[in-house]
Amino acid sequence: MTDVRLFTPGPTPVPPEVREAEGRPMIHHRSEEFSAILRAVRGDLVALCEAEETVILASSGTGGMEAVVASAFGPGERVLVVEGGKFGERWVELADQYGLAADVLRVPWGRAVAPEAVAERVTPSTRGVFLQACESSTGAYHPIDRIGALLPERDDLLYAVDAITAVGVHDLSLARHRIDFLIGASQKALMSPPGLAFVALSGRALRQLKKVASRSYYLSLQRELSASAKGQTAFTPAVSLVRALEAALRRISAEGKGAVFARHRALKSRARAAFREMGLSLFNRDDEAADGLTVVTAPPGLDVKGWLRSLKERHGLWLAGGQGELEGKIFRVAHMGAVTADDLEGALSTIRESLGGGRP
Ligand SMILES: Cc1ncc(COP(=O)(O)O)c(C=O)c1O
Repeated sequence: MTDVRLFTPGPTPVPPEVREAEGRPMIHHRSEEFSAILRAVRGDLVALCEAEETVILASSGTGGMEAVVASAFGPGERVLVVEGGKFGERWVELADQYGLAADVLRVPWGRAVAPEAVAERVTPSTRGVFLQACESSTGAYHPIDRIGALLPERDDLLYAVDAITAVGVHDLSLARHRIDFLIGASQKALMSPPGLAFVALSGRALRQLKKVASRSYYLSLQRELSASAKGQTAFTPAVSLVRALEAALRRISAEGKGAVFARHRALKSRARAAFREMGLSLFNRDDEAADGLTVVTAPPGLDVKGWLRSLKERHGLWLAGGQGELEGKIFRVAHMGAVTADDLEGALSTIRESLGGGRP
């Protein structure tokens, strides 16, 4: 196989030191050694998201979303869900699955929600607000901080943010942005293999979780919080992945959060400028586009699926197409995690050449 140049919105390239950590000889998880690793990872995640606590789950990101719905909300409880793409739909499906009464605020796919529109739909009986930070199916970034600033300070109103493709890219803070649950996953900007989710929690979330019982046995935040008080996980953890994540978080700490966010902003600006120079249209407005991926409207007549296949087979370049209603209409180029400016330049020039200078 040609060398893989991975520019998909997850998984993303895994740096050598993270791969090395993942491949270390196995240890037993009920041990001082593993507890120390777990403490370090949880501490780094708490610092990254400015949270009170964090729970790590052996699941993909969706498991983190489900853990929040199952653990903190009861049947019939009213939640406001912002749906502006495939992952917004996932919140709606999860709410339905657990019998919540979802009030769905639909946003055209590709657009970000207006903070005032969210605030207007919150009623005294709304118990939760669910949305994505980066809606990776469309490339839109919902303004999490401005929405948080408009939400009432009620203790029973929980703000749940799917930050699976935003954590480690954008500055997201539970403390400053009034977020109660922030869900992340290992395989995006956290530069680790797929298989881990985490949920960062606010003080308000922790207080609410004490008042209710989880409706899931495995995806129970309460059960994980009691285990983590003893330096453990409730079930056998994904030991290798936790070690990989430890190495990745060390890399983020060494670079510094501010520098990491600035690097992503610079990659985004470069990608947007380059696609415009190629004569292509961008799918998101500049002020609504996420920093971790750039979404391009497919030029008329381009067979997106066939083109993506040929980029992969001939150049080892892996991009992503559109999902759901956007299939065949867009392509997505991720630049998050370990992707460097040089890597991006290389991908852009392959794309430029394969489109015949950008004007097919
Ligand atoms: C914003 C967002 N939410 C949820 C998910 C689902 O995560 P997973 O596939 O890890 O369950 C993804 C994955 O691409 C995502 O980008």
